[in-house]
Amino acid sequence: MKITIVGSGNVGSSCASFLAQKNIVDQIVLLDIRKNFSEGKSLDISQMISLTDSSTELIGVTNDYSQSKNSDIVVITCGVTRKPGMSRDDLVNTNANIIREATKKSIFFSPNAKFIIVSNPLDVMAYVSYITAKIDSSRIIGMAGVLDTTRYKYFLSKKLGLSYHDIQSLLLGGHGDTMVPLYRYTSISGIPIKEFLSEEENNIIIEKTKKGGEQIVNLLGTSAWMAPGASIVKMIESIIKNQKRIFPCSVLLKGEYGIKDTYLGVPVILGKCGIERIIELKLNNNEMNLLKKSSNHVKNMINKVINH
Ligand code: LAC
Repeated sequence: MKITIVGSGNVGSSCASFLAQKNIVDQIVLLDIRKNFSEGKSLDISQMISLTDSSTELIGVTNDYSQSKNSDIVVITCGVTRKPGMSRDDLVNTNANIIREATKKSIFFSPNAKFIIVSNPLDVMAYVSYITAKIDSSRIIGMAGVLDTTRYKYFLSKKLGLSYHDIQSLLLGGHGDTMVPLYRYTSISGIPIKEFLSEEENNIIIEKTKKGGEQIVNLLGTSAWMAPGASIVKMIESIIKNQKRIFPCSVLLKGEYGIKDTYLGVPVILGKCGIERIIELKLNNNEMNLLKKSSNHVKNMINKVINH
């Protein structure tokens, strides 16, 4: 198994580091446009790995996509990140050009790869990558829902004073302020969430989750990388081990949930073919309205960037 990570910044290199420690792939290629940057990151991670039982090999390259040849999965993390006061949407034009270029070059050398898109604004970038790659949408998957759900579980576990390992939940919609909570689908060890807190109390946790990325940007001056990196690894693992896990991922909707021609976060089964199935839940009117609002927001951004 060979994985290429385009962009060796904080998210790309933390993903490489978590993935390498798991010892589940043969090779990780880290690629960045900054001269010698990936080479340095790869050396550091390789030396860390030599202290573990893993034998994953790391290769760092400066913008040489030929080294990514025949990757099974390409992870796109490149682009600019937000600074305090910026929203993910502010990055759209700069990152669209970067993502187009990275997708074109990656697909040329790895025509059969699955792509995990991570750059922001996530749902728009996943769409840009999809129309650039011209491959089946089951192979272009956006990472956001795993991260957002993790944040939600973390905040919920703190509020309730119980383990996040026992929380099952799903968040739908775009990666940002329009994410859609599913109170009805949240449970703790099989016990419906309503036994623990009201919908109003849950909404406060949801608001914290929506602002979870921004909270870290404000604290660190740049966006998060540890939880995003680990979230990507969960998706890679489900694909390469054909685990068929259900994760909320940003995918191209073709009429599911009454929505077409946009990427949006919904639950999917992730296996060796990438997205093996989109799970369509029977949403109530309120949930459906929130999802439509989220999809309209993403669609507007897509139209801006496509007509740019
Ligand atoms: C976040 C960025 C990675 O949510 O979108 O932290």
